[in-house]
Amino acid sequence: MGVFASTDDPGSTGHEQVVFCQDKQSGLKAIIGIYSTALGPALGGTRFYPYASEEEALADVLDLSRGMAYKNALAGLDLGGGKAVIWGDPEQIKSEALLRAYGRFVESLAGRYYTACDVGTYVADMDVIARETSYVTGRSVEHGGAGDSSVLTAWGVFQGMRAAAEHVWGTPTLAGKRVGVAGLGKVGKYLTGHLLEDGAEVVATDVNPKALEWVRATHPQVTLVDDTAALAASDIDVYAPCALGGALNDDTVPVLRAKVVAGAANNQLAHAGIEKVLADRGILYAPDYVVNAGGVIQVADEIEGFNFERAKLRATRIFDTTREILRLADDEGVPPAVAADRLAERRMAEVGRLRSIHLR
Ligand SMILES: NC(=O)c1ccc[n+]([C@@H]2O[C@H](COP(=O)([O-])OP(=O)(O)OC[C@H]3O[C@@H](n4cnc5c(N)ncnc54)[C@H](O)[C@@H]3O)[C@@H](O)[C@H]2O)c1
Repeated sequence: MGVFASTDDPGSTGHEQVVFCQDKQSGLKAIIGIYSTALGPALGGTRFYPYASEEEALADVLDLSRGMAYKNALAGLDLGGGKAVIWGDPEQIKSEALLRAYGRFVESLAGRYYTACDVGTYVADMDVIARETSYVTGRSVEHGGAGDSSVLTAWGVFQGMRAAAEHVWGTPTLAGKRVGVAGLGKVGKYLTGHLLEDGAEVVATDVNPKALEWVRATHPQVTLVDDTAALAASDIDVYAPCALGGALNDDTVPVLRAKVVAGAANNQLAHAGIEKVLADRGILYAPDYVVNAGGVIQVADEIEGFNFERAKLRATRIFDTTREILRLADDEGVPPAVAADRLAERRMAEVGRLRSIHLR
């Protein structure tokens, strides 16, 4: 296993293991970060991205793998948290040899880490990686995979939003509410369908003209606005960021008129402290990593042999988890994002501890 540069002491970040992988001939440089295996093997996708430096790649994998531990814990999975990054431009260097070399490094961890898709990697890549390792999920339907994870991601976001609605307005429905969907991509489209079916009014925006065409043709009752800034400032009850990260920032939060934020986008809080600004403004933020866990629930289910109904049932439980987090936040007088972290840490400690009971 190649080490391509020295790094900080991984113990200082709380990670169990950080593995540097290098295969010079194929051009592979990867870092696998395992934050925790307290609840089971670490699960998290592989991000293939042209990082500016090794430090940037390392910082990303440490951050993302930690996030996965919290997400998997709150999704009720018997899985820990991990993530991997491959450093380079996938358009330039992705090849069968590189992916298979990576697969051999994943295999060498003997099941401590399961990989899946992330930015820059796709189901077809997982099929290639799987030729070298069995510790890979998120595979193509032809290979027993579950296919598009956005179906259950949208379902889970809808469940989390229902729980937030109940917390604020007393009933677990979006009927009669105006919901602003920022981003009509794979998740935003399905979410819009669930919202309309529930009786909500949907206001939406996207930068892609094709997405706008789709909504005009499929759901002509949806009101379209120019951009996310206009959407955030409009008269909506719920804001659902479903595009990029950092949606809740110093520009949007002060003008937000919604009482609830619940959406699919990862890393919605642009910086530490913004959750407090939301809380001070009386806006209930349903933590992104809690409500968008439907996708990871789907790929985790695939490890057992995919069953859509079982996975959907698990994603439906995002309603209960969100409800529990919002109650805990009230009881402990902290923002929901802090309550979610506490609940995840509690499960990792309480359930993870059981492994100290010796069986044989
Ligand atoms: N797909 C999943 O299963 C899944 C799971 C968990 C989290 N997420 C997160 O949810 C978000 C959406 O995922 P997706 O799979 O639907 O992605 P996607 O790429 O299919 O959709 C994103 C949409 O946002 C639009 N968009 C980009 N920038 C915008 C802007 N500035 N203003 C308005 N619209 C903009 C894009 O045109 C696109 O239609 C991402 O942040 C993703 O990381 C997705």
